[in-house]
Amino acid sequence: MTSVAAPGMVHAKAPGKINVFLKVGALLGDGYHDVAIAYQAVSLYEEVRVYPADDFSVVVSGTVELSRVPVDGSNIAIRAARLLAARTGYRGGAHIEIGKHVPVTGGMGGGSADAAATLLACDALWGTELPREEMLSLASELGSDVPFAFTGGTAIGTGRGDQLSPALAQGQFQWVLVVADFGLSTPAVYSELDRHRDRHSQDIFPAQAQPFVDTNVLQALRAGDPHQLAETLYNDLQAPALHLEPSLASVLELGEQNGALAGIISGSGPTIAFLTADLDNALELQIALSAARLNVVRVTGPVHGARLVNQ
Ligand code: C5P
Repeated sequence: MTSVAAPGMVHAKAPGKINVFLKVGALLGDGYHDVAIAYQAVSLYEEVRVYPADDFSVVVSGTVELSRVPVDGSNIAIRAARLLAARTGYRGGAHIEIGKHVPVTGGMGGGSADAAATLLACDALWGTELPREEMLSLASELGSDVPFAFTGGTAIGTGRGDQLSPALAQGQFQWVLVVADFGLSTPAVYSELDRHRDRHSQDIFPAQAQPFVDTNVLQALRAGDPHQLAETLYNDLQAPALHLEPSLASVLELGEQNGALAGIISGSGPTIAFLTADLDNALELQIALSAARLNVVRVTGPVHGARLVNQ
């Protein structure tokens, strides 16, 4: 996609995300759900370095718990590199080094960011120069959130979450994240939602066939107003995630008692994102939650999507 002269190694980074709004529609025949998502990319990045090699391999280091990251061919970065090679007819491989900073199986799209950064880095390393539209199509084959890790910023995702349209946003939002010491499987959380909907099909409206993002969310993002956005944070996966991990409820409560405007489970969780009014509030909340011995990270959003890093 981009031609960069870096014979020995190419370095790219891509951000994690918070879903500030996530509405889940009907379960489709392919096992996926129609969704309507407002994504915000946040300042936690996956760092990917790729080196020329005959085959494909990956090593992983970083600041988050790494035991759940596969380092065989099932690793999404290797799958991304192989897919790009297959699609472009490139015959070599790549050695991939990932520096992970986005919580693993945390609902923040860390694996998706690895895939997006790997696509970009391998494209530059190999000189394959795939057009952006085709990169986004490969991204979508790799996972529903991968196109957003590629584009970053603020965007609306429909379909499986992979059909993106940009959303107008201004200013910077201040978030405080609480990272759990366990992961949640995305398919398990979606299945829990389906089970809940089946159990209560008499009492609740059927899931919207084509869900959409509430206009109040778009307005809050456009205004850059955290108070307004706090009123509109919404996630259909929150209840099933809490059902699977009830301990998360007390964390949500603790954040809201300590000055957060609102808290929400990010994506399928278990990471909890607290929105704060400003930097001072974020710092105060960070201190309070750290004092409760929680694993806390402060981030801002929106930030840019996958990018090459100049050496
Ligand atoms: O696309 P991705 O690999 O991230 O999806 C992981 C799983 O999450 C899917 O296999 C599916 O069970 C669930 N999912 C879904 N509907 C979506 C996105 C993901 O049911 N829109």
